[in-house]
Amino acid sequence: MPTILRGARFPSTMSRGFMAPRASSPENPLRLAVLISGSGSGLATLLKHQQNKSCAHKTVIVISDKTDAGGLGHAERYGVPNTSIPLSMRISGLERRIEQESRVLDAIEESGAELVVLSGYMRILTADFVSRWKGRLINIHPSLLPLFPGAHAHEDVLAEGVDESGCTVHLVDENVDTGPILAQQTVPVHKEDTVDSLSERVKKAEHVLYPDVLDRFCRNPLSFDIGWSVDINQL
Ligand code: GRF
Repeated sequence: MPTILRGARFPSTMSRGFMAPRASSPENPLRLAVLISGSGSGLATLLKHQQNKSCAHKTVIVISDKTDAGGLGHAERYGVPNTSIPLSMRISGLERRIEQESRVLDAIEESGAELVVLSGYMRILTADFVSRWKGRLINIHPSLLPLFPGAHAHEDVLAEGVDESGCTVHLVDENVDTGPILAQQTVPVHKEDTVDSLSERVKKAEHVLYPDVLDRFCRNPLSFDIGWSVDINQL
């Protein structure tokens, strides 16, 4: 059964290729690129949080892989540069995935972003993308990792019949939902829950947790408590 080791600090992750962002402040906030695919309720909460004068990060670009993502409207409302970069219709397979990703990487670089946040971005990144941003690439996942990784966390939670779920903010590594954990918040699962009701409850927790975790991480990444999800059978 996987478990989480807590208490590591950022330097201990460097041997695994993670590079910390600079420590930021409200006077010199860390510049974020936020990647989305859908409604962007998390993005909306983040942008609202960034209106706060004591916030140590600001969003400099929002990128969606879907042209009709509702989240792009939130970026518009807050006057944040935004763009959609969908998969090309002209090519297919791995080539198509790599081409789209390279346009995303270019847009991030042009924006001057220093940290990338996956806020409901429904594409799996290639190892090349991850290696360029490792340590400065954060994901919000709607379960208590290492439990229920993948794209159908709520379905899997309900099928398993557990009475607790939650959300996880973590650094991204080359595998899916396995990177070092920055913070988690639990929520109850009720017997009558549907995917929608559970998702709504988890999102409420996410919206409190992740702007705050970003604040603390951006201010002092080198002393942030980092947990690893590991398989104790391999220790
Ligand atoms: C969130 O539940 C997040 O954990 C997951 O995707 C969902 C995004 O929702 N990765 P929204 O687009 O921010 O409303």
